[in-house]
Amino acid sequence: MINITVIDRDDSSAVIEVPTDINLNLMEVLKAYEYDVLATCGGLALCATCHVQVLEGFDKLPEAQDAELDMLDTLPDAASDSRLACQLKVNENLADITIKIRGALQ
Ligand code: FES
Repeated sequence: MINITVIDRDDSSAVIEVPTDINLNLMEVLKAYEYDVLATCGGLALCATCHVQVLEGFDKLPEAQDAELDMLDTLPDAASDSRLACQLKVNENLADITIKIRGALQ
C-alpha cells in the first residue's frame, strides 16, 4: 500500500491508501475514490481532464512521454509540475506524493 495526498478543487485534502498490485493508473484510482475526474478519453492522453499538479514528489515520477507532453502543452493552466493522471501507473514511485486535481469539469 502507498499513501497519496489528494487536494481537491475546493482545497480540501485527504490521504488515500492505494494498493500497488492492482495495475491501475492514477486517474482510475481517483475515480474509484469518487473524485470528480471526467476522463472522457478513457486514459489515452487525449482529453486532459485528468490533469493534476504534483505538488510533492514530482521528481520521483517517470518522465512524461510525448503524447502526455503534447496534451499538457495545450492546457493554458498547465504548470511545470503538471501531469496527466491517466499516464501515471500506480506503483512505488507514487508513494507519498501530493497532487492537486486541476482537470476541467466539462
Ligand atoms: S483521461 Fe483523458 S487525458 Fe487522461
